[in-house]
Amino acid sequence: MDFSAPRGMRDFFPEDMVLRNRIFDAWRAAASASGFEQYDACVVESLDLLKRKAGEEVENQVYAFKDKSGRDLALRAEMTPTLARMVAERQGSLQFPLKWFCIAQCFRYERMTKGRKREHYQLNLDIVGEDGVSGEAEVLCAAVSAMRRIGVPDSAYRVRVSSRALLSELLARLGIEEKFHAGAFLALDKKGKMPREDIENLMREEGLGEDACRKAFDLMDISSLDEAAAIAGPDSPAVARLRELFAVLEDCGIRDQFVFDVSVVRGLSYYTGIVFEAFDVKGEFRAIFGGGRYDNLLTTIGGRPTPAVGLGFGDVVVGELLKSLGLADTAARPDLVAVGYMQPEQRAAATRLAASLRSSGRNVDLRLRAQKAKAFFSSASQRATHAVYLGPDDVAAGRARMKDLATREETEVALSCPPT
Ligand code: HAM
Repeated sequence: MDFSAPRGMRDFFPEDMVLRNRIFDAWRAAASASGFEQYDACVVESLDLLKRKAGEEVENQVYAFKDKSGRDLALRAEMTPTLARMVAERQGSLQFPLKWFCIAQCFRYERMTKGRKREHYQLNLDIVGEDGVSGEAEVLCAAVSAMRRIGVPDSAYRVRVSSRALLSELLARLGIEEKFHAGAFLALDKKGKMPREDIENLMREEGLGEDACRKAFDLMDISSLDEAAAIAGPDSPAVARLRELFAVLEDCGIRDQFVFDVSVVRGLSYYTGIVFEAFDVKGEFRAIFGGGRYDNLLTTIGGRPTPAVGLGFGDVVVGELLKSLGLADTAARPDLVAVGYMQPEQRAAATRLAASLRSSGRNVDLRLRAQKAKAFFSSASQRATHAVYLGPDDVAAGRARMKDLATREETEVALSCPPT
């Protein structure tokens, strides 16, 4: 019998929680600082909600099962369908635009590679009910703020931005009909993950001709927004929108983090406009976060037409990036006073001291039994910031010394005597 965690699933031992909490705290602080409200939802969804368009990567990655009543259910692979379901449910009473965030555990039966597990946590930042680029800018601004709060230097990553609307305009310029665009997007998203030949084959399967496949693939060589603009034409709405987004990002003071990259298409079929993905500059890892505009998702699940934009930011890649930058262990040790005692006779005084320190707001690790001084200080130094060790003399004197384990400085603490 193998009782280890299933492949791709993660256990978090206390030492792992330090980094996880650092990431979650940064996510919450960044989202709240930008006025996003937190929501949450069930991890299990109906399979119908999660059913995917053919060709999407997550299509084959869903953990699906039947419950005891034979209902088809699944563990969520991402949060966006759930968000759309929740918004559609209260569409009549919600105040739009709404800015919501959540930290959601998601499950995908993925091929395990660097930065990809079968279960991960994802910060989701979404704005529903706004069609202007201020929506994109606001989620991106919060994501950059989260990166900074986590401790990733700006120089370590860039966010690559493009637009499916732009790619649609470019495909139309090649004479490729709109009905082929969705299939072309999902195929072109595989660039870098699959050989060109296979990608062109995928497009051929979608019904594109030989010449169209080649030309569509060549679009991925466009190296600047100006070059794309020259093909799309002077009145391109998609180019104007991208330029406007870059201008707003300039006003946010984060423009340097962003580059135009026509090859960012995204693998989920619901995106309709601007799309983006953040990558480490060394190109070691898969995307750190990704998202875009999805203006039609609500209607596809029965809601009223509502524009939306958002992103998902996973905990795995950013954690590995921090480790590779040597920045994973920089968190300051949180305040913790270890309180120990030499003999059972000092337990009452130690317990009273711990209670009084706790009620004054300190975190206290009260030892559960008497310990020798050496054993107490050696274990206290592993986790605590301060230590107090009581012997009979301390109790008799009604005071003890609290040691700062970093500076070795000592301060006196008063002991209250147990009632006799
Ligand atoms: P996604 O690009 O599939 O987008 O995932 C977003 C992020 O989640 C990725 O950039 C990565 O950080 C993390 N992630 C995804 N799969 C895994 C995995 N197997 N292991 C570790 N981390 C992973 C979405 O999920 C969209 N729903 C995001 C969104 C929100 N779009 C609009 N709103």
